[in-house]
Amino acid sequence: MSQEIITIERFILQQERSFPGATGEFTQLLYDITLAAKIISREVNKAGLVEILGSTGDKNIHGETVQKLDEFANRIIFQSMDHTGRLCIMGSEESETPLLIPDEYPTGKYVLLFDPLDGSSNIDVNGSIGSIFSIHRKKSKTERGDVSDLLQKGYEQVGAAYVIYGSSTMLIYTTGNGVHGFTLDPSVGEFLLSHPHIEIPKNGNIYSVNEGNYIYWDDKTRAYINHLKSEDNHSGKPYSHRYIGSMVADIHRTLLNGGIFMYPVSYKNPDKPSGKLRLLYEAAPMGFIISQAGGYASDGHQNILEIEPRDIHQRTAVFIGDKDDVLLAEKYISAEIEKEGKYADKNQ
Ligand code: AHG
Ligand code: MN
Ligand code: MN
Repeated sequence: MSQEIITIERFILQQERSFPGATGEFTQLLYDITLAAKIISREVNKAGLVEILGSTGDKNIHGETVQKLDEFANRIIFQSMDHTGRLCIMGSEESETPLLIPDEYPTGKYVLLFDPLDGSSNIDVNGSIGSIFSIHRKKSKTERGDVSDLLQKGYEQVGAAYVIYGSSTMLIYTTGNGVHGFTLDPSVGEFLLSHPHIEIPKNGNIYSVNEGNYIYWDDKTRAYINHLKSEDNHSGKPYSHRYIGSMVADIHRTLLNGGIFMYPVSYKNPDKPSGKLRLLYEAAPMGFIISQAGGYASDGHQNILEIEPRDIHQRTAVFIGDKDDVLLAEKYISAEIEKEGKYADKNQ
């Protein structure tokens, strides 16, 4: 007998039934995300065919060139969500200020933060890109929400998802009950369950980082990465290096193959060292997903899900993946290894 086909709708509904008292509103919110994902996926797949490739020439609030697909994805996600009455406010990596629900529509009890198009430098070269979503409960007392709804800690998320537009389009999500993956069947327009209960494999041998930034890292970061590249690591052989430059694609591989993905603090601007990735739109949702899959996410000092956000566009360093790899990164970054006298590094 052939394998049972389970659509994402059916799967989410089944999950909802295991929560007595669930109103279905949250389930609907997840459906809304899948609809936006399908529309963006369709545009991404025809990006080479229509005049949608290339940059708009504008810079976004982070000073990066805005790609047309970034704008398109930003708009589609907002428009798929603004009128449903399920959200009270939204925040997007591409929008400087919180995205308010238009006055003519009702508001609801959830909050959505998103990175509409992640890895946008890959668009023009047909590399994998993605979208990232983070869902919180409304916290404020105001009817239409306020910035305090966006500034919640990662561990307060009630859901997180990413979509990867790769050789196939996949949607991975968690609602705090494991991590599940679905592959889009374009012929029927449905996400079908392909990866139930994903767990990050132990002892993966891959590290993923933009090593071109080596000269901008501090000694502790260099020492950790040199350790992974040495024969002194737990596996006795150097880790392999893989880096796509799209967090969604690099995290997706890390989730399925194990190992660690990093974007450490860079001292490119020595007066203002900083991480690159955004806490609310990238690090926290990916941290929730990886943690639910048995991994761990840290900024090098603490659990990313514990960071108290102060700014909606706050950046953070990121070490995310296999728990043991990330815990060891924390030991290096917090200088514990140095104190133990194990800091000597033959590759430096
Ligand atoms: P975005 O396209 O949403 O701005 O994100 C790009 C991010 C992330 O996807 C990736 O991990 C990182 O930038 C790559 O940065 P570098 O090019 O500096 O390695
Ligand atoms: Mn991004
Ligand atoms: Mn983006």
